[in-house]
Amino acid sequence: MASSKDTGKITHKQIEKYRGQVLDWYDTHGRDLPWRYKNGETANPYHVWLSEIMCQQTTVQAVIPYYTKFLSTWPTIEALAQSKQEDVLSAWAGLGYYARARNLHKCAKIIADDLKGQWPKSATELKQLPGIGDYTSAAIAAIAYNEPATVMDGNIERIMARFFGIKDPLPKAKPIFKKYTARFFDEYEKRTGDFAQALMDIGANICTPKNPKCPSCPLKEGCYAYKNSSQESFPRKDKKKQSPHKFGEVYWITNDKGEVLFHRRPEKGLLAGMAGLPTSTWDVHPPNINKPEALKDVQHIQDIHDTPVTIKHVFTHFDLTLALKKAKLADDTKSPNDYFWANPKKQAQALPTVFRKAERIFSSLR
Ligand code: ADE
Repeated sequence: MASSKDTGKITHKQIEKYRGQVLDWYDTHGRDLPWRYKNGETANPYHVWLSEIMCQQTTVQAVIPYYTKFLSTWPTIEALAQSKQEDVLSAWAGLGYYARARNLHKCAKIIADDLKGQWPKSATELKQLPGIGDYTSAAIAAIAYNEPATVMDGNIERIMARFFGIKDPLPKAKPIFKKYTARFFDEYEKRTGDFAQALMDIGANICTPKNPKCPSCPLKEGCYAYKNSSQESFPRKDKKKQSPHKFGEVYWITNDKGEVLFHRRPEKGLLAGMAGLPTSTWDVHPPNINKPEALKDVQHIQDIHDTPVTIKHVFTHFDLTLALKKAKLADDTKSPNDYFWANPKKQAQALPTVFRKAERIFSSLR
């Protein structure tokens, strides 16, 4: 008879069998990533935390060079805690979602200073820290401590939707997905971290949104969607609202020394605290855009001339088109507050992607 732990037609015993198959698969086919530990090694929570924060909303391939650079610059949580926030933001430039870098720095200070380097040991405690939500707290607890926390990201949702045939649409049905996913994690404390990372690898390389490679999947035998040839109809999703489109101008203001005027953005709002190029306001109605107040006082700033180029960038909540404008100022023009002159080649590496795109084009224009 089915026990109370059984979900749908899948019994607890079958869950154990599939988990075993997933782990066997992981031992031969799992990705070799710089933050991973081989079976038996003790995980360093600093490495696990850093990689998990970087992997939020970012692909593993994009994360690897940043992860390596961060660890060589700040080999310990104490070193990171002692760094300047500005340096952390510069090192993060290009990875996107910059709130992550500000929270990373805040979190490092809490752990190194307030908690004297003692990492919280459970998902519940980890979740109290800045930048650590449901997913990340579970992932760190599972990977660093083998806590049976339910780890569920977008890839794992897709696997579960197909395996169990969950027809409820995301994101509303997240709690339902969580219950199904928990079947694999509840009370399992042996290789929880490996199991979670195995699912991540299956999601990234086998159970892909399009053309999944089901014959290679260790879960295929029990997979509802595979058996019904309906893989690509899972997971179901609620219709997304269309993002608004905003317009603005971005300025490349040079002096006779070949320097360019940059802007340290305010501590609150989009790309907070990051260095950027000066821009106008951004608005859904192009005629409404205004030059920044601070630049209005700068001598000769009216000499701005158009270039034929625009750049486009997609943010989480809106799409942006920026027209590129150039201007030249005298060497001795004092930069207004929060603006500074810098060598554009040196500054480029510390720019978020939207400004990096603009910098590349401005640098190639004569
Ligand atoms: N995405 C988030 N965390 C990951 C990990 N530890 N391995 C692979 N992909 C991931």
